[in-house]
Amino acid sequence: MNENSDKTKEMEPSLSWRLFWRELWRLLSPDHRLINYILAITVLGAVFDLAKPYILKILIDNLYNFQSIDLSFLLWLIVLYLGSGQVRSLIQYFNDRAILKLLVKIEYHLGLKAQDKLLNLSLGYHERENTGAKIVKIERGVDRISTLINNISWEVAPTLVQLAFTIPALFWADWRIGISFLIFTPLFIFVTYWSNQKMYPVRKEIYKSYETASGKMAQSIININAVQSFVQEEREFNEFSDIKAGIRDNENKQWGWMMKIGLGRNIIVDIGRAAVLFLGVYFVYHGEISVGTLIFAFTLSEMAYSSIYRLSRFYDRMEEGRAGVNRLLTLFNAESEVKNEEGAIIPEKIEGKIEFKDVSFQYREAKVMALDRVSFKISAGTTVALVGPSGGGKTTVARLLYRHYDPTSGKVMVDDKDIKSFDFNAYRRFLAIVPQEVEIFDVSVRDNIAYANPAASLAEIEAAARIANAEEFILKLDKGYDTLVGERGIKLSGGQRQRLGIARAILARPKILIFDEATSNLDSQSESLIQEALGRIGRHRTVIIIAHRLSTIKKADKIIVLENGKVAEQGSHLELSQVAGGLYAKLLKLQNLGEISE
Ligand SMILES: Nc1ncnc2c1ncn2[C@@H]1O[C@H](COP(=O)(O)OP(=O)(O)OP(=O)(O)O)[C@@H](O)[C@H]1O
Ligand SMILES: [Mg+2]
Repeated sequence: MNENSDKTKEMEPSLSWRLFWRELWRLLSPDHRLINYILAITVLGAVFDLAKPYILKILIDNLYNFQSIDLSFLLWLIVLYLGSGQVRSLIQYFNDRAILKLLVKIEYHLGLKAQDKLLNLSLGYHERENTGAKIVKIERGVDRISTLINNISWEVAPTLVQLAFTIPALFWADWRIGISFLIFTPLFIFVTYWSNQKMYPVRKEIYKSYETASGKMAQSIININAVQSFVQEEREFNEFSDIKAGIRDNENKQWGWMMKIGLGRNIIVDIGRAAVLFLGVYFVYHGEISVGTLIFAFTLSEMAYSSIYRLSRFYDRMEEGRAGVNRLLTLFNAESEVKNEEGAIIPEKIEGKIEFKDVSFQYREAKVMALDRVSFKISAGTTVALVGPSGGGKTTVARLLYRHYDPTSGKVMVDDKDIKSFDFNAYRRFLAIVPQEVEIFDVSVRDNIAYANPAASLAEIEAAARIANAEEFILKLDKGYDTLVGERGIKLSGGQRQRLGIARAILARPKILIFDEATSNLDSQSESLIQEALGRIGRHRTVIIIAHRLSTIKKADKIIVLENGKVAEQGSHLELSQVAGGLYAKLLKLQNLGEISE
């Protein structure tokens, strides 16, 4: 269909009706008791709904019985009529209260569930799906489920229960009128079902486009700097408006069609009602039934027809929301690529010995291997540098070590154990990383540094900032450590963000510390200060430094050169710099030339 049909297929929900309801029911498991309670009250309400027309029938039949009008009996009937109405309202009150409670509860725990799911889905999922689309999927999905439950509780359940009582009552009042009802109903049901089936693809398309539109909008806002700098506002706007126009056209198509079908369904129902009236009058005329029975039967058939009409309207709306609910259910069912094995060990402590054993890895949507049979060993407490050309697989090594992804083949071992045998959350607490792009939250400097260790005291935070060479600039900010740094740290320079990232990682007190180009945004002077600090903090831990500037890594105990996903060389600076024709020696030569001017 399009270039990411693979991607679409994965996200394309295709739940059958039965599966859809089963999934939904499972999703609502915390509310099953409340739902059953609502159902019970609904049945009670439906019984009382029949009481009023029946009392009316007795009243009228008694009135026509001129010889023996018993006034006090009639009066009692009227009181009963009034009383049953009051009881009905009271039942409705309890019903409504329970339904509202249910709706509020659903909104609450579905929201939590969605957040929980997103937080725990592995990085792989998040990297494949766009932020705006994820948010719309959740918002629309939760909204549609609420609407669905709303409709079921207030319309479908009462209507269905009512139908279950009215149809037998109708047959009891007069079976011939009952049969006339049964003739028109299947036709009506068929038209409703058929027209909605026809619209399903259009509706699915609408929901997909809503996600695309939101994704597009989020992209242009996140990258607003690029948009404005390259004067692409108009293009961004036009692309967005094309998606929106598609939605508009599909919505029009959908509603236009449904309105037309609505007219058709009205005609069927009206003919059905006329038939009841015709039959009823005919039977009264021939003295086969009483006027009271006619009114009773007619009221019942009115109730029944308006019931199936309401049901059909509800069915339309439910079909309209089904595509949206399906998309959310698919998100809830998405499986994390990284999972804890059964009986995963919670490590008490780790020493920090690392080994990659024949590790190969391929990103799901990539053509080539990011790592191809990579093997190396890092002793506990040493400092190792990963170098090599861009795209060589350095960051990927860090991600595998972190268990954001599992290797396609081979093993990542820490302290001689496959890291898959650890509980990954417990294991990750022993690691800290300063990523290539430090992620900064829109909170204060202090909270950003203490992110991994919220209980840290101000003194500890300041110490970490000092080691990261960040204190100087922090004290110059208008509120010092309490300064809010803006979304994604927008108020800070690149080097400042990096230093916050370093302080954050230091404060996490990891056993394994990874620096992914952590000093690339720093000037040579700040860099050498951090170098020196690294020497100090690296003493009791394993440190992996990923760097392009080779000057930063000369002191490393070991250097591993990665090229095209393979280990090209490994050894100390001295060893590697002497390999004639070696990649490291070549890089070194290039950089020495470049650094003459510095
Ligand atoms: N999420 C991803 N999905 C698909 N392919 C990816 C993903 N992340 C990285 N890659 C690919 O994997 C390969 C290795 O990437 P990696 O980020 O490990 O390189 P790197 O050595 O860190 O490069 P750099 O020095 O530029 O940071 C690259 O070819 C890259 O295109
Ligand atoms: Mg990288």
